[in-house]
Amino acid sequence: MLIKAEDTDADKAAQDAKGIGKFTNVELGATLDIKMADAGKVIYDVKCSSCHRLTEEKLVGPGWKDVTKRRTAEWVMNFSTNPNEMLDKDAIAKGMLEECLVRMPNQGLSDDDARHIYEYMRQNDGVK
Ligand code: HEC
Repeated sequence: MLIKAEDTDADKAAQDAKGIGKFTNVELGATLDIKMADAGKVIYDVKCSSCHRLTEEKLVGPGWKDVTKRRTAEWVMNFSTNPNEMLDKDAIAKGMLEECLVRMPNQGLSDDDARHIYEYMRQNDGVK
């Protein structure tokens, strides 16, 4: 398979992107923090599940399967807490908006909420 240099660079830049917001360096454990993941599930059920499935299937927004593999933790947590600014300025977020045609509303998450949901996403992606 032929891979063009530009594509590879662009893909790498997207994978490394941290988004726009307060999270610049998120520390992750080597294994799952089940308490955090459980707390994240509670928030997911109430605030996110109406628009996001845990599979790769799109509902209103993209399915969450493998989201921790296609984005950095910083990007996910910045988008989760700061969607308005990122939908205006972040290239990846703008691209998703073009596909989904709905602006994700700010869900009023605390920093801890965002971290807990991220841990739940890691669990969903197979971290144990
Ligand atoms: C009203 C529907 C809606 C709700 C509720 C919602 N989202 Fe979203 N979300 C979207 C849409 C639509 C997108 C795609 C970007 C856009 O068009 O705004 C998205 C994108 C995302 C992404 C990026 C996904 C990817 O594949 O990169 C993350 C992360 C995310 N949402 C987190 C959350 C979290 C966390 C919650 C709950 C606290 C939540 N969302 C609740 C509609 C929603």
